[in-house]
Amino acid sequence: MSQSKVDTYNYRVVRQFSIMAVVWGLVGMAVGVLIAAQMAWPELNFGIPWLSFGRLRPLHTNTVIFAFGGCGLFATSYYVVQRTSNVRLFSDKLAAFTFWGWQLVIVLAAISLPMGYTQSKEYAELEWPIDILIAVVWVVYAIVFFGTLAKRKVAHIYVANWFYGAFILAVALLHIVNSAAIPVSFTKSYSAYAGVQDAMVQWWYGHNAVGFFLTAGFLGMMYYFIPKVVERPIYSYRLSVVHFWALIFTYMWAGPHHLHYTALPDWTQSIGMVFSLILLAPSWGGMINGVMTLSGAWHKLRSDPILRFLIVSLSFYGMSTFEGPMMAIKTVNALSHYTDWTIGHVHSGALGWVGFVTIGSLYYMIPRLFGRTSMYSKSLIEVHFWVATIGVVLYIASMWIAGVMQGLMWRAVNVDGTLTYTFVESVKATYPYYIIRLSGGVLYLSGMCMMAYNVYKTIAGVAPSEAKIPVLAPMAGHSTAKA
Ligand code: HEM
Ligand code: HEM
Repeated sequence: MSQSKVDTYNYRVVRQFSIMAVVWGLVGMAVGVLIAAQMAWPELNFGIPWLSFGRLRPLHTNTVIFAFGGCGLFATSYYVVQRTSNVRLFSDKLAAFTFWGWQLVIVLAAISLPMGYTQSKEYAELEWPIDILIAVVWVVYAIVFFGTLAKRKVAHIYVANWFYGAFILAVALLHIVNSAAIPVSFTKSYSAYAGVQDAMVQWWYGHNAVGFFLTAGFLGMMYYFIPKVVERPIYSYRLSVVHFWALIFTYMWAGPHHLHYTALPDWTQSIGMVFSLILLAPSWGGMINGVMTLSGAWHKLRSDPILRFLIVSLSFYGMSTFEGPMMAIKTVNALSHYTDWTIGHVHSGALGWVGFVTIGSLYYMIPRLFGRTSMYSKSLIEVHFWVATIGVVLYIASMWIAGVMQGLMWRAVNVDGTLTYTFVESVKATYPYYIIRLSGGVLYLSGMCMMAYNVYKTIAGVAPSEAKIPVLAPMAGHSTAKA
């Protein structure tokens, strides 16, 4: 391998983001386990304000989505864009800036949220100075990513980069518009929007945070890592192009399904519902494209736990993108809204889809990034897979049952028109399900601990030297995929 080839890629920043994805995954899920325990035993806040549920919940969501998921997305997008473009990142300095800048955002979030500083917008809680830092880091990220694409040595732009690119552009747009606020002090600001417009902008952001942060970027992972692990081109390149345009067009309109039966005009809610139903088609198109890539190679599922993580992630993606459109139907939402059904839906997407696809991709990348032929222990990945799968199933099944039960109890009326159950009776009935959810969470977290140990053992003792990293040919066969 010639020295010029060795210099081709910047793996340093990919290694940094990969390690931090594991670290923040552990932290965010540990906080998730703590708040799940608090739902069963509220005294676990020990009377300390910064350990209260209301402050730790946004800490959990921000850490798992933006720190664990975010670092996973930075790591894989930098890896994929370099390998498929056959060039080094646009600028090492700017890439390093995105790493340190993003870690600073996360640390500031981890300090300010437990202290109670919040804009009270879900998934956009951070106060305005941190928002400005996020916008700067994100613009630099866009420069590095698109700059690398611009200087690519391969004429074709592989489809994974389309998804990463859409994710980067859309998140910039969403963040900047939704975070517009009027500061009154360094730690307090008020939204630039008022009343129902504020709610509409917030859920336009919130739903597209799901569509672009929790979906499009991870589809980028899916389109690169599944063909790589299976050693086959993607099932249908044509379907991936249709999938891309249909998905990004449709997601933008579905936000109002979060605001059914509110002061939002009824026709807006109906548009949200209809676009959510349409969204089933591109979502399943993408899932089918990923799963069918295995045709003729199904046996690999039996022997490769990394592939199992990737393929099972798609099953959960299919499940949550079937469930989501159903929950967007107004009459179904009348039952599901405010209940734990929503929490079950969220975590089938978050643990099953986002978690599994990230874990699978990291297991694939880490040995390659550190010049190893494989992870330290394959059997530990195997155990991780089963522990995590049982964890997800316990989590989501308990929340589905609890959610439907709550919805039915809240709407039950006696013949004289009075409510059959008091609210507290529904809380009491939910108690056993909170304990089952907690045990699911503990299993999922213990799987992450196994991963951290496995990653540590894989890299321990090996000086990260790019000279040891095999530089393979760029993504092969993508333009000649079976259509
Ligand atoms: C060990 C794993 C996890 C546990 C035990 C856990 C637990 C929890 C709990 C107890 C809540 C609060 C539910 C409520 O307010 O009723 C929650 C909310 C949430 N979690 Fe997790 N979580 C875990 C992993 C994750 C991951 C990996 C993600 C994303 C990638 C995630 C995303 C979310 C989101 C978005 C919410 C807010 C849901 C909503 O507002 O409807 N969680 N989680
Ligand atoms: C076709 C795709 C999807 C549709 C149409 C959809 C639809 C919905 C609906 C109707 C709700 C309930 C809103 C409410 O009653 O408040 C919801 C909540 C949610 N969904 Fe989905 N969903 C989809 C896919 C996903 C995926 C793949 C994920 C995660 C990776 C996800 C994450 C969430 C989150 C985090 C919430 C909770 C928002 C909140 O209230 O805080 N969804 N979704």
